Amino acid sequence: MYFPFKLFKSIFYTLLLINSILCYVPPKRFLHNSVIINDQLLILGGYTNTTDYEFELFFLNLLKPFDIYNLTWTLIEDKGLPVYTWRSTSVLSLDNSTIYLIGGFMINKNTLEYDYSNLVYTYDYSTSKWSTPVPDEGTVPPRQDIKGVIDNSGIIYIFGGFNATNLLGNIYNDMNTLNTASDTWTTLSISGNLPLPCMEYTADILPSGTIVYIGGLEQVSDDANFTLVDMKKIKLFDTHKLEWSQMQIKYTITQPIVTFNSKDATGSYIDPRWYFSSVLTSDGNIIILGGISYSNGSVVLDGVRPKLATLDTNKNSFVWSIPSNSEVGAPPSIYGHTANLYNDYMIITFGKELDLNNFASQVYFYNIKSNKWVSTFSPPDNKTTTTNNFPKALAIGLGTGIGGLLLISCTFITIFIVRRIRQRSVILEIPGSNL
Ligand SMILES: *[C@@H]1O[C@H](CO)[C@@H](O)[C@H](O)[C@H]1NC(C)=O
Ligand SMILES: *[C@@H]1O[C@H](CO)[C@@H](O)[C@H](O)[C@H]1NC(C)=O
Ligand SMILES: *[C@@H]1O[C@H](CO)[C@@H](O)[C@H](O)[C@H]1NC(C)=O
Repeated sequence: MYFPFKLFKSIFYTLLLINSILCYVPPKRFLHNSVIINDQLLILGGYTNTTDYEFELFFLNLLKPFDIYNLTWTLIEDKGLPVYTWRSTSVLSLDNSTIYLIGGFMINKNTLEYDYSNLVYTYDYSTSKWSTPVPDEGTVPPRQDIKGVIDNSGIIYIFGGFNATNLLGNIYNDMNTLNTASDTWTTLSISGNLPLPCMEYTADILPSGTIVYIGGLEQVSDDANFTLVDMKKIKLFDTHKLEWSQMQIKYTITQPIVTFNSKDATGSYIDPRWYFSSVLTSDGNIIILGGISYSNGSVVLDGVRPKLATLDTNKNSFVWSIPSNSEVGAPPSIYGHTANLYNDYMIITFGKELDLNNFASQVYFYNIKSNKWVSTFSPPDNKTTTTNNFPKALAIGLGTGIGGLLLISCTFITIFIVRRIRQRSVILEIPGSNL
């Protein structure tokens, strides 16, 4: 090897190292989890289109302004996930100290084989340490396609879900709880009003303690195909009484009378869907976004309409509506993304684009107050980034220096990644999935 090349290579690797800290470019993904902790949007797991499993843990700092085309992700060095996982759920503890990562497909980091020996992992934010808590009581059922929510006494509720074995699987309608204070698992014994087995729904817990389950796939009988849940039928779980109920709701027509779904002449304003997302706003609206359709036992690669809809939970009977302008500047039809609420923004991360079946862009922002898709984000006024007292000239000099270095290193890393991606050709299959 020529010396100049060696020199170039060592410079390149040094820059790469700097890069991994300053300018991390995360692989695109879907079926991941995202949690906001201490003003950082943390991304956990997900399915990437690479033969190497990705374990990196990284975040977006929400105390800095940015736009969706210029994102700076930060890699949490050496603190990757303990397991490769997708189609799992992540729940933040009440004191904002710990993330519970539960279920999903799990692959052992060392053997690269499926490994369900630990079904719950916890991440301690202050020490960046992962642990595998052993439940004091009860057993954790292995499940995929679930969504956990936590009530104000620290109990996580996980409804039903899927258990894939050799491309076939069962779906469930049981309610499992994890008491984060005592580390106990309980499968609640409920007999009345049981909903059908269901997966890939959304779940949001209202301040009253009622969990609202929307959409997903359900199974009417053991040998029946999975079918999409009607969006007019909402499942409610009362966490105080530990009781199920169902609500049949109405739409308000805020749009011109248009039947979104041409197949349904009676006017299906909100297409049923799975692999979609939801957030609950402080004024009691659940905003859903995206998702994918399903018919006759297989995934339908059709966009669901409308992309975005709002369920007002303040009324006695909840009401669906479609905010006007919510299609303006909206992301393409996506599924397998996540949504988090941060102040006035619903932040959408990753996912897959339906039309092209490509991985989606990294981030989209929807302002829930103005009901508009926006491309720039600014932190709330009361939260400012720390400024230093460097003399201005020095600061500018340093800034330019670091900026230049960043630019060079970003270029290098892009070249490096492009080359690496080109070398990868084997496509990983998702077991138990017909996606
Ligand atoms: C946890 O974080 C949320 C959102 O930032 C905040 O509203 C809440 O007060 C925090 N809870 C505790 C116990 O710090
Ligand atoms: C499905 O359930 C069985 C029995 O509990 C378990 O052994 C298996 O690991 C589960 N599979 C998945 C993919 O969760
Ligand atoms: C995944 O990678 C393969 C091979 O590189 C490519 O053909 C395919 O389009 C990629 N899929 C997505 C969703 O990016």
